[in-house]
Amino acid sequence: MGLTFDSVNTLPRDTELIIKNARIIDPVQGKDVKEDILIRDGVIQKIGKLKTEGMAESLQQGIGDNKKSSHFAGKELLKPLISENKNFIKLEAEGLIVCPSFLDLHVHLREPGNEDEEDIMSGIQAAIHGGVSGLCCMPNTVPPADNECYLKYICSVAKEQDFNIFPVASMTKKLEGTEITDFGILKENGAIALSDDGCCVQDSRLMYEIMKYAAQFDLLLILHEEDYSFSRFGLMHEGFYSSKLGLDGISSLSEILMVQRDIELAKRTKAKIHFTHISAKESVELIKNAKDDGIAVTCDVTPHHLSFDDSELESYDALFKVNPPLRSSADREALEKGVLEDVIDIIASDHAPHLEEEKNTTIKNAASGVTGLETIFAASFTRLCCKSNFSLNKLIDILSVRPRKILGLNLPSIKPGEKAEITIIEQDRRKLINSDFFSSKSINSAFMNKELQGFISGTINGRKIRINS
Ligand code: DOR
Repeated sequence: MGLTFDSVNTLPRDTELIIKNARIIDPVQGKDVKEDILIRDGVIQKIGKLKTEGMAESLQQGIGDNKKSSHFAGKELLKPLISENKNFIKLEAEGLIVCPSFLDLHVHLREPGNEDEEDIMSGIQAAIHGGVSGLCCMPNTVPPADNECYLKYICSVAKEQDFNIFPVASMTKKLEGTEITDFGILKENGAIALSDDGCCVQDSRLMYEIMKYAAQFDLLLILHEEDYSFSRFGLMHEGFYSSKLGLDGISSLSEILMVQRDIELAKRTKAKIHFTHISAKESVELIKNAKDDGIAVTCDVTPHHLSFDDSELESYDALFKVNPPLRSSADREALEKGVLEDVIDIIASDHAPHLEEEKNTTIKNAASGVTGLETIFAASFTRLCCKSNFSLNKLIDILSVRPRKILGLNLPSIKPGEKAEITIIEQDRRKLINSDFFSSKSINSAFMNKELQGFISGTINGRKIRINS
């Protein structure tokens, strides 16, 4: 067999995959070493200096900038060498980083209901392209994920595809914020957490009951914070640019008031809460104080809120319409500081696919949201490690290990006996993002036509392997 670029290949049983000369960064073991990795049947067998003599040089295929694709016709890029009746594939990873694959805690897969934007299969392709081997899918599908049928469906597709999809069920029926769902049944049927993402429960008494109920079932609540009385007619952040552009604004108070409310409720109910896509500097401050007071809160920020501010809307480009909105430069700086100082625990993409016609329209009519699964690493690396002095090792921890800690999952590590869930990164590679880049069905990326640095060269998930061109 030969491997093809830009699609998932399944290695035959007994094939040995050897990754040579990789810099292995493994936050769980606190390891940063240059070694080789031997994988067989999707499981890591050995780490160390491995012998690959006997493999014809011309059959050893480098990846990333080391590619020797000229050896092979068409897309047949990696050829196994048959030796002693065994298949070997060697990936030359000199100059590349190998780390545990990422987990994206905030993804919209759009199936069921809007499969023209994304479906589970295309979402998985996009995830693998982005170095992601696990994702939480949000419940704002059509119909919404408020019952066990949906969960059973998602879990069965995930199993069939051998991909870690962790469904998040809604906290209220139809995401209407009026009637609580059946948390016990949802948990039993695979809900990893609960969220009304895209919506926010406005009734404080109901939110109090949700927290008490979630605490009984030890279920994490992923909170989209938005007080509708401050956001209802808004199109962008309320501030200098909304005034300049004559667009209705969404005050930061919309988020701040709900963060404040829910910290107070969590303190009283002992519920585990996670604030998602936080956007305002005051939210960072509130979360910092809550953590200092020992309240069980965690939070995430998106790469687009870390990278852009509301001045982007000056172009009236609806690609930058997101909810919560891109806020002021002071907010953006506070978010970055929040990541540097560990107040913000993780980065999650809020991958929100939308059709061309939903985004290529006026700010008023456009849908909110941008895709993000495929650029989660490049966008975060460019912003934090290239433009600020952030450590790559810590970024890997933030993308791979900490999300799993928040969800109570096994922590991924690159060591013998573990399933290979490995992402290969070329940190020096720069690319201009264009529509050809994407595996997602939708291309509404905020990073379109932007140059990013630090790209995924390949993702290995058990016997499945994708090498990116
Ligand atoms: O911008 C957004 N888009 N924010 C959300 O909370 C939901 C998402 C979507 O589903 O499109």
